[in-house]
Amino acid sequence: VSRSKRKWDHIEFAIETGQQRGSGFEDVKFLHRSIPDTSLDTIELKTKIGELVLSSPIFINAMTGGGGQKTLEINRNLAIAARETGLGMAVGSQMSALKNQGEKHTYEVVRKENPDGIIFANLGSEATVEQAKEAVKMIAADGLQIHLNAVQELTMPEGDRDFRGVLQRIENLADSIDVPIIVKETGFGMSMETVGALESAGVFAVDVSGYGGTNFGAIENRRRAKSLPFFEEWGIPTVVSVVEAAERSKGIQVIASGGIQSSLDIAKALALGAEAAAVAGYFLKVLLKEGPEALIEKINNTKEELAVIMTALGARTVKDLQNAPLLISGHAWHWLEQRGIDTKKYSQRSI
Ligand SMILES: Cc1cc2nc3c(=O)[nH]c(=O)nc-3n(C[C@H](O)[C@H](O)[C@H](O)COP(=O)(O)O)c2cc1C
Repeated sequence: VSRSKRKWDHIEFAIETGQQRGSGFEDVKFLHRSIPDTSLDTIELKTKIGELVLSSPIFINAMTGGGGQKTLEINRNLAIAARETGLGMAVGSQMSALKNQGEKHTYEVVRKENPDGIIFANLGSEATVEQAKEAVKMIAADGLQIHLNAVQELTMPEGDRDFRGVLQRIENLADSIDVPIIVKETGFGMSMETVGALESAGVFAVDVSGYGGTNFGAIENRRRAKSLPFFEEWGIPTVVSVVEAAERSKGIQVIASGGIQSSLDIAKALALGAEAAAVAGYFLKVLLKEGPEALIEKINNTKEELAVIMTALGARTVKDLQNAPLLISGHAWHWLEQRGIDTKKYSQRSI
């Protein structure tokens, strides 16, 4: 299968298999506050991931590029939406442009459309230091995402089968690349042990990209003759993974993604300890089904609603929101309890 055919398969099957709503957000409820003492017009959405300043805590996660004209158009429209709404944005894996110069423009368009925005480069953990430098340079990136996707590769008919040496390569990248490195999952979540290992390797941020949204087990199963159905229910739900990462983190920044679709999901992800929340499949679906204008409107609505939610909670800033009391129940609570995490501190804290 050619790389560009694969890119298009992923987009089509991501839309077709959709979002599963299994990320655990339904298990999280904010504690209502009758006297919030806030005003909507004073709410601040800006946030920092380390030294990276984002005008809003939402960004568009890595999806595409390298699949010719169709992926060029998707990246152009995502970049325009990011520019018009002040969101950060990651491009999809740039390996195809490193292997085939003819695909470079499908990524470069993102910087061209959004010269002043926050943009992340993206490569797999097989990347060499030279490749990483080239990917960053290609789009004058503000950071580099390195994606982890062992389960996707194992399900992918033509995927990798050897995952040795990943942590060492990531450590080398963290030592040699002069933009911040974000290590991200691709919909299977990260445990606190993984986050700890990445923190020791010198990584700046993790994007847990948990289970419950886009499902690459399901997507790759559509592409293979003999399915591996067990990988469709495999992974750490986003809510659990954000809490595990935030618990473990001493200095590493935590980004939430995996099944995020609404302002309320974003508010919950931030309150659980993330500095920012990233959306992939859901924004892609809005873009492809409803068009670029609809995507911009959706993002603006989401930002407005997030400010409304913060007003109700008495949270003027994202930092305040990270202290909002909330209750974790059901499957997410059970999971966290079994992992030795005391969820009471979330329910008994205050802003
Ligand atoms: C069509 C498609 C292509 C993707 N390609 C990449 C990629 O190239 N690199 C990467 O790190 N993640 C990639 N992802 C994964 C997303 O960045 C994200 O981690 C995952 O989809 C979970 O988030 P979601 O539920 O909001 O979609 C892709 C997702 C989709 C839907």
